[in-house]
Amino acid sequence: MNANILQNDRARLTALTPDDIPAMLPWFEDAGFMRHLDACPAKPKTASELKKWVEDMQSSNDGFILAVRPAGGEDLTGVVEIDGILWTHQVTWLAIGIAPGMQGKGYGRAAMELALKFAFDELNLHRVQLTVFAYNTRAIALYEALGFTREGIYREFLLRDGQRYDMYLYGLLRREWAMER
Ligand SMILES: CC(C)(COP(=O)(O)OP(=O)(O)OC[C@H]1O[C@@H](n2cnc3c(N)ncnc32)[C@H](O)[C@@H]1OP(=O)(O)O)[C@@H](O)C(=O)NCCC(=O)NCCS
Repeated sequence: MNANILQNDRARLTALTPDDIPAMLPWFEDAGFMRHLDACPAKPKTASELKKWVEDMQSSNDGFILAVRPAGGEDLTGVVEIDGILWTHQVTWLAIGIAPGMQGKGYGRAAMELALKFAFDELNLHRVQLTVFAYNTRAIALYEALGFTREGIYREFLLRDGQRYDMYLYGLLRREWAMER
């Protein structure tokens, strides 16, 4: 049994607390971050909106929100959301956001590895799925490096700056993840 499933050399997954909200506020004032994260209008969010999001996730029966912190530190580096779990079918959605100033330093990969370990080894899920916009080349490279398969294309899903963009569906099955390790 591997006891240390929430930590690797680069990062660790911990509880996200209300004290983390001030650190998250600048992320949700950064339109570039928000436009990579989801399809909602990239509108700045208030502390109370973020608090409600965190509290809703923490009281949810079908999801988890976890903080990403450096292996040896307390700073908030990012957030991982395991959401919309269908317990009957052992399927979940997964989303990740790394703080704008901390991207490209290996935290995304380290946190995804931990989130997948949590999903497959602790929650015993069978399938992890996510969506990503076609212009999010960094995220796509990460998901493909982790073994995700592009399973579908939501053609012309997004309209931004007068241009339409596809959104991809990616999935990873437990056996594919186990093979990659
Ligand atoms: C996408 C995201 C999670 C990646 O995390 P990250 O910490 O920036 O990425 P990492 O440093 O761990 O690098 C992971 C992989 O991304 C790729 N990558 C890193 N920097 C890149 C860049 N500038 N351009 C293209 N690909 C890049 C590499 O393939 C890298 O793999 P490698 O370590 O084998 O070289 C992060 O950038 C992020 O949160 N972005 C904003 C929100 C977002 O897009 N969320 C995902 C929505 S689907």
